[in-house]
Amino acid sequence: MEKFNIAIDGPAAAGKSTVARLVARHLGFVYVDTGAMYRAVTWKALQAGIASDNKDELVRLAGSLQIELYPGEQAQQVILDGIDVTDLIRSVAVNQNVSAVAAVPEIRRLLVLKQQEMARAKGVVMDGRDIGTHVMPDAELKIFLTASVRERAERRYLEMKDKQEEVTLEQLEKDIAERDRMDEEREASPLVRADDAVLIDTSGMSVPQVAERILELAKTAA
Ligand code: C5P
Repeated sequence: MEKFNIAIDGPAAAGKSTVARLVARHLGFVYVDTGAMYRAVTWKALQAGIASDNKDELVRLAGSLQIELYPGEQAQQVILDGIDVTDLIRSVAVNQNVSAVAAVPEIRRLLVLKQQEMARAKGVVMDGRDIGTHVMPDAELKIFLTASVRERAERRYLEMKDKQEEVTLEQLEKDIAERDRMDEEREASPLVRADDAVLIDTSGMSVPQVAERILELAKTAA
């Protein structure tokens, strides 16, 4: 099969990464979770005590980091300066600060360059917020996944409960809504559906059903 690229965008906790990983595995493509890159920068900034409004320091930090992505068992494995931060970047503190970090244009520029480099050889399923609009505007297939805030919070709650993290459903719903607001309202490549993206509302759909729908669309995309 000819290789091509698939862009999957959408609001927080819409199931993008789980679905993207499944689709990539099925096609034998490489899965790239771009949110993990913004999360890695945010985690490091929190470790270094850099405030999320200290743009100069954040940019300096982002430019100095070595972020490596590998296909993992459950989630994409993220190695930051040699440390496995795969689980650490999913914390509540990172959730609450990542959108401020991701709103800094210079940080986006740095990470987008890396993402475009990964997509160059084709055969990539990439998920994020600006993939179809900025990172891979020529992607052969663009998907915009969404679901109600409540449903997204419930799914994330179940995931986090499995990991024993102390968080309530209400807190998650609030964090997700706030992250969406910041991602949609920021000036630098905000979260918006590309004109040519296929909208899939995943409310009431299972992960395999969503993946199946994307694979169906992929048949005619190449
Ligand atoms: O996809 P995930 O929810 O892990 O992304 C975390 C955050 O990273 C998002 O809320 C958003 O602020 C930022 N992000 C982004 N552009 C992307 C991917 C993620 O701004 N392409």
